[in-house]
Amino acid sequence: MLPTGEGIIIDIGTGDGVFVFECARQNPKKFYIGIDANARPLEKISEKIHRKPAKGGLPNVLFLQAAVEDLPSELDGAADEVHIHFPWGSLLGAVATGNESVLRNLRRICAADALLEILIGCDPVRDVGELERLGIPSFSLDYIDSLLAPRYAKGGFSIIERGALPQSEWASVQTSWARRLKGRAGRSLTYMIGRAMSKDHLQEPSANS
Ligand SMILES: C[S@@+](CC[C@H](N)C(=O)[O-])C[C@H]1O[C@@H](n2cnc3c(N)ncnc32)[C@H](O)[C@@H]1O
Repeated sequence: MLPTGEGIIIDIGTGDGVFVFECARQNPKKFYIGIDANARPLEKISEKIHRKPAKGGLPNVLFLQAAVEDLPSELDGAADEVHIHFPWGSLLGAVATGNESVLRNLRRICAADALLEILIGCDPVRDVGELERLGIPSFSLDYIDSLLAPRYAKGGFSIIERGALPQSEWASVQTSWARRLKGRAGRSLTYMIGRAMSKDHLQEPSANS
């Protein structure tokens, strides 16, 4: 039996898996799944979780290699929470522009009423090339409300909270990229929390999604 009594949490674009590892250690009755398109940074931590518990092993963790565009069907309906922290590349492009097909993939792996938490760290000057390449305009709260919220609704999530996280609170985000970018002037951290809409409220997919 997997220790899933208090829920299943999926971290997409997990990087080196530190968020999953730390949370799983602190919450032994929750089950954590870290997913990333790139398996290499996960090699070390994947070996660690399979050690004996006395040596740092964790029975409540699984790491998977998969892209958000192609999540395994075995995860359908599994997640009570989905986290995406400091996305980059195609993952950033998808969540910051509200790509319908990716949002529907995320909704597909959610249980009823699941929460989706997204944290985006942006520096409009340093990241200008990547933001332009991905077609992301300036990432403001107004942009979230006016453009992203309707797209997220189409993808199956209602945005129930959004805001900017002050630098002083970055330390509460337990990921390697939060530590790496903490204190860098010019970089802002924006969060969005979505709730998976019930199947009755899901809209028909767009023809091209
Ligand atoms: C900047 S890192 C953040 C890692 C971690 N979440 C953290 O906060 O330390 C972005 C991660 O997103 C992953 N990624 C990018 N595109 C992806 C995609 N389409 N599907 C899944 N993961 C993706 C990258 O491989 C990378 O590990």
